[in-house]
Amino acid sequence: MAMIAAVGSAAGKSIASFSRPARGHQQKGRPCCCFIDKSFLKHVESKAAPAKHNFRGRKGEVAMVAELTRTDVQAPPPAARHVSRKISSAASKAHSLTAERLEIVQSLDQWAEDALLPLLKDPNTNWQPQDYLPVSSDEDFIDRVRELRERSAGLSDDYLVCLVGDTITEEALPTYQTMLNTLDGTRDETGASPTPWGIWTRAWTAEENRHGDLLHTYLYLTGRVDMKAVQKTTQYLIGSGMDPKTENNPYLGFLYTSFQERATFISHGNTARHAKALGDEQLGKICGIIAADEKRHEKAYCRIVEKLYELDPDGAMLAFADMMKKQIVMPAHLMYDGESDTLFKDFSEVAQRTGVYTAADYADIMQHLVNLWRVEHRTNLSPEAQAAQEYVCKLPERVRKLGERAAAKAKKTPQQHAKFSWIFNREVALL
Ligand SMILES: [Fe+2]
Ligand SMILES: [Fe+2]
Repeated sequence: MAMIAAVGSAAGKSIASFSRPARGHQQKGRPCCCFIDKSFLKHVESKAAPAKHNFRGRKGEVAMVAELTRTDVQAPPPAARHVSRKISSAASKAHSLTAERLEIVQSLDQWAEDALLPLLKDPNTNWQPQDYLPVSSDEDFIDRVRELRERSAGLSDDYLVCLVGDTITEEALPTYQTMLNTLDGTRDETGASPTPWGIWTRAWTAEENRHGDLLHTYLYLTGRVDMKAVQKTTQYLIGSGMDPKTENNPYLGFLYTSFQERATFISHGNTARHAKALGDEQLGKICGIIAADEKRHEKAYCRIVEKLYELDPDGAMLAFADMMKKQIVMPAHLMYDGESDTLFKDFSEVAQRTGVYTAADYADIMQHLVNLWRVEHRTNLSPEAQAAQEYVCKLPERVRKLGERAAAKAKKTPQQHAKFSWIFNREVALL
């Protein structure tokens, strides 16, 4: 396998390697050491989940380790993954917010107006995708496109796979607006609700809409990817939706979005750095400005959880532990291109190998949130919340160790490859 570039990823992370496609055969059923693969993790949850509020389960830890070394994990049958009707029938609890906690959320309207809405940007002054793309009405449009194509010629296949996966994740935005509007007490009841929560959700969606728009157009202009395969994957993904297991519960929902915005900030930040290292400065800028948006959105969602900790430390602590126990599934976990039943697992493995988004990042995000919300120092908690606190505080280190163990095991097995329709069925090395 010929390495063509080695670029440093985020500070303190390992060196990520990008490679040209190598010859090989796609092999299914290999363990994925990336914590973001839902199919890989669902067994962890079923086996490792301790009894309700017993977050200290040693048995669960053993099962989790065993899961990381499994070799027989099979992708679910196509119908279960690609037919949204069947997916929703497997959904977990619904409307789990208690009446007392609903009241707390409903008391936050003025707070949301003061603390969240100022974080939104004015469309009149905010960047737009056009600011980073050749202007099609300009006379030199064709020359600018030629330059863009020259710059992007050095992007490797594994980089393209990561960028396409990130783009498709952004393009499935209707699903995420839907998810926010499942939350009791904060949903946009009419579609044009004047509440701060309704305003936030629509404006957040509108800001996010620029991400997929910009990345999609840029990829189109490079001529490096099979746009029809990319668009087909997006259609499948929006059709499939997602189940983040947030139970219509804003405590769980905003924990999920806090985690997820940081995950996308990290991922886009890494694709920015890698684009620059591969010779495409402009693409680096594009991924960088998207990462900056994600960071601003992360700030908003983290503020909500911080407020919940202030008003209801027990509820916030139990919700944090609950979401961590269930694991944060990536928004694109139901990704499918009409061909590969292991597409999301394969994409996750390429992202893990190249350092775009890794198991270590997952652990780092947990630790960041534990520190941000001062989880360790919260006092006057109920015994249940104390158990949740202990569980959450120990989890990042535990996850980091499990990830390292799984990565070490993956290194000992032969290099595997998968074909990606997005890059005209060329093969890319997995873990
Ligand atoms: Fe985004
Ligand atoms: Fe985002």
